[in-house]
Amino acid sequence: MADFDLVIRQGTVVTAASKMKCDVGIADGQIVALGRNLGEGRQEIDATDLLVLPGGVEAHCHIEQRSAFGLMTADDFESATISAAFGGNTTVIPFAAQHKGDSLREVVKDYHARASSKSVIDYGYHLIVSDPRPEVLGQELPALIRDGFTSFKVYMTYEMLRLDDRQMLDVLYTARSEGALVMVHAENHEMIRWLTDKLVDANRVEPKFHAISHSRTAESEATHRAIMLSRLVDTPMLIVHVSTEEATAEIRRAQSEGFKIYGETCPQYLFLTAEDLDRHGMEGAKFCCSPPPRDASAQEAIWRGIQNGTFQVVSSDHAPYSYDEHGKLYAGPNPPFTKIANGVPGIELRLPLLFSEGVGKGRIDIHKFVEVTSTNAARLYGLFPRKGTIAIGADADLALWDVNCEREVRYADLHDRAGYSPYEGKQLKGWPVTVINRGRVVVSDGELHVGKGSGQFLPRETSEFATPTGRLQPELDPDRNFGVEILSRAE
Ligand code: URP
Ligand code: ZN
Ligand code: ZN
Repeated sequence: MADFDLVIRQGTVVTAASKMKCDVGIADGQIVALGRNLGEGRQEIDATDLLVLPGGVEAHCHIEQRSAFGLMTADDFESATISAAFGGNTTVIPFAAQHKGDSLREVVKDYHARASSKSVIDYGYHLIVSDPRPEVLGQELPALIRDGFTSFKVYMTYEMLRLDDRQMLDVLYTARSEGALVMVHAENHEMIRWLTDKLVDANRVEPKFHAISHSRTAESEATHRAIMLSRLVDTPMLIVHVSTEEATAEIRRAQSEGFKIYGETCPQYLFLTAEDLDRHGMEGAKFCCSPPPRDASAQEAIWRGIQNGTFQVVSSDHAPYSYDEHGKLYAGPNPPFTKIANGVPGIELRLPLLFSEGVGKGRIDIHKFVEVTSTNAARLYGLFPRKGTIAIGADADLALWDVNCEREVRYADLHDRAGYSPYEGKQLKGWPVTVINRGRVVVSDGELHVGKGSGQFLPRETSEFATPTGRLQPELDPDRNFGVEILSRAE
């Protein structure tokens, strides 16, 4: 009788902290042995000359998400999770998005119904809180956090989603009491609106003006303000999809002062620039996302932020809208930039892009690659050590990488339904060739081997990253402020 369900032989096993040539023994979906010359497996995979990495944890993607004005992303849970798996991921954490008036509970029920029958890899959801009315903050949100939805996103811009500063404080305070991690889309709404109005008045409406309206200053101001709101109530915060040097500096300063401020960036800020929005005709619409891609010097600053640890995670922010009337061009073939669906696809290329241009070109080492694409997301979002590492007792979530495989990006080879890739034509070296989720071979030899609905829902723990620092602002410290207890102290 075989000792294991699956043995991966002779690969180079890499985690965020270690590298070792060994076999991986898997039983009942978990890693049960790491070592040389392990006993027999019912199934065996020869990983000689391959890297064995933890499967990617894609923690920022929009899947089967309806926008506030009714537009649906091009991918559903089937196509998005297949695409994620082909890109070396074994877990996705998309968003369950509340719109004004929605019950959060009902929103989560809806997403469960969509995801459970379609996902091919494991999944959870962050919540999006856009309507923090008293019953949402008093009952629904705390109950959902306790049920394992331990992170949620809030927006400082987008008319239908944004919270004002007062609402931000209310949600941060709720997160603090429940130990949830708050993710913030930080752009100054009024600056964007003012610039947009000026541009539209001057008939400057081509896609490239999207990048001007979403100015760098709008991003750094909101990042600074979000951090100050977080400091006032001592609630940890993750600033998502950071695109500028200035916002990166705001996050770094807060971190250096000991505040629990985390940062996320995305491939579009490393590999695209605002010039892409100025491509011929309406082609620029394909690159409209918020914040927008910036310039070469911002790209360098973002790389530095990954290298020096300002950014804990690199996520795709996969927001797939087809380049037609059902997506990007919902308002007609020649819309002003104000009416172009925001977002770029990228769930399948996040890891290959970062591997090829980061590890392959010596910008980051392989451990940093694992850290920012898998381990840190699992830690931030309460999935570690079940996900995000290779260790005995962890889920057998693995991606086997051929570091010598060279391929040009062609949308025709991808598995999402956006209909285009912003990275078309890029030559990348290093691709995942076999992807394993809980011991199941999901992808190998360019084929999908599992059925839709075989991914598992992941309720998540609260994370150590979300625990308050205990450093109250002096004016809120009850020992100093006439004994008035406004915030309860952290443990
Ligand atoms: O433009 C973007 N990033 N669209 C997706 C929604 C978001 O704000 O992340
Ligand atoms: Zn956002
Ligand atoms: Zn997003």
